[in-house]
Amino acid sequence: MADVETLRQVDVTDLPILRRWRNHPDIRRYMYTQHEITAHEHQAWFERMQTNPQVHLLMYVEDGTPRGYAQLTVKAHRADWGFYVSPDAKKGTGRKLGHTVLDYAFHELQLEKVCGEALSFNEGSIAFHKALGFTHEGTLRAHACIRSDFVDVFCFGLLKADWLTE
Ligand SMILES: CC(C)(COP(=O)(O)OP(=O)(O)OC[C@H]1O[C@@H](n2cnc3c(N)ncnc32)[C@H](O)[C@@H]1OP(=O)(O)O)[C@@H](O)C(=O)NCCC(=O)NCCS
Repeated sequence: MADVETLRQVDVTDLPILRRWRNHPDIRRYMYTQHEITAHEHQAWFERMQTNPQVHLLMYVEDGTPRGYAQLTVKAHRADWGFYVSPDAKKGTGRKLGHTVLDYAFHELQLEKVCGEALSFNEGSIAFHKALGFTHEGTLRAHACIRSDFVDVFCFGLLKADWLTE
């Protein structure tokens, strides 16, 4: 039977699994902040996000099991997104998460554009954005300080029109 894929708001009971994913070396090394996040820090982040109605914290679920996380931060007609899949997710999970989140962004939230940023060494995310139809709109040079190195950040954009004509 085909997986039933859904998206729901993150709630407080998701915090342990989200922190486990976020602190996993395969995820943490691609984030702007690379230290291990403490439970206290994580809780404070969640509470801060809850006070901002422009931030959507989303859990991607397959057949009732959380498989990935995405965040949309809305600014007028567009949103910045961030995401990761469970470190033990099978191949293809990211693509399904991407489709589900982008459908939500363009259909439910009625956004005109979704923007993503990837560290220049995150080849998986760069290929992933392109596979979803994003355009590489520019490069922010030496923009992030990662383990004492200044690295470029690739900026991606996907318009509603691009998505609807996929
Ligand atoms: C990026 C991420 C979400 C992709 O999820 P995934 O389940 O591996 O992706 P999929 O298997 O669905 O792959 C979809 C497409 O993305 C691209 N892709 C994904 N991982 C890739 C990799 N390691 N190298 C090259 N291309 C990759 C491919 O184009 C792939 O299509 P294909 O399989 O037909 O070639 C996942 O690797 C992840 O969570 N990474 C760590 C966190 C992260 O980097 N988040 C983004 C920060 S900007």
